[in-house]
Amino acid sequence: MSHWYTRRDYEAAAEYIAGRIPLRPQVGVILGSGLNPLAEAVESAHALAYTDIPGFPTPTVDGHEGRLIGGLLEGVPVWVMQGRVHYYEGYTMQQVAFPVRVMQVMGIQALLVTNAAGGLNPAFRVGDLMLIRDHINLMGMAGLSPLRGPNDPTLGPRFPDMSQAYDPRLRRLAREVAEEHQIPIHEGVYVGLAGPSFETPADLRFLRLIGADAVGMSTVPEVTVARHGGMRVLGVSGISNVARMEAEPAGETSHEEVLAAGQQIVPRLTTLIRGILARWGAG
Ligand code: HPA
Repeated sequence: MSHWYTRRDYEAAAEYIAGRIPLRPQVGVILGSGLNPLAEAVESAHALAYTDIPGFPTPTVDGHEGRLIGGLLEGVPVWVMQGRVHYYEGYTMQQVAFPVRVMQVMGIQALLVTNAAGGLNPAFRVGDLMLIRDHINLMGMAGLSPLRGPNDPTLGPRFPDMSQAYDPRLRRLAREVAEEHQIPIHEGVYVGLAGPSFETPADLRFLRLIGADAVGMSTVPEVTVARHGGMRVLGVSGISNVARMEAEPAGETSHEEVLAAGQQIVPRLTTLIRGILARWGAG
């Protein structure tokens, strides 16, 4: 029998954090692989190691710092998660989504979630940004949902709607900011896989065929829980590599490639997120 977390566990973590980061966060930001430097933009920052927060899972892969930073970004009180955990690290889906639940019980109403993803849409180039319009939950279809197990109706409904998982108004705001700063931006469908092996060329052709524009190993469980908890979500993928749909001798995908692309993605993503928060009241 699995261990299921309860509201008490989330509240214990929230209380621990609230005792050390003296602000009421409005927005939660999750930074994906190689995107840690965005947290440097946070002002009046207080940092906590995930290892010190009761119940928080700790990242085991390079490119994920494992620190929660609380502070102000463009005057908006935020929690920035510098790094996340993934299912492939051995955590349960409920553990993967644990920090989002802690955000929910803290009263955070909006989640900005980022990731590094492989581009499937042939128009995408390394370093591009993609606003997530929708996702394909292949992990969930295979039975890996963070909502599996007893449902606490004080956290959300047993069968949550996912028809507008990614908030259209926040996407419009993001597009306006991108235009203002001349950041090229795509919009598309993210498909979430369990990993950790990258896809075969046949996998990639399949994923393109079913309507995906970008592929990654995160985000979907966190967004599922955020929506279950009634949070508004904006998702942004940084395209760290492009899919090779045919087997090529020199065409290997690596984690190093993903992290290197982060350096290209971070300045644009930082501008985008700061611009969104600067207009937060208007969103
Ligand atoms: N596939 C899956 N996950 C990823 C990729 C990819 O090509 N790039 C970054 N995360």
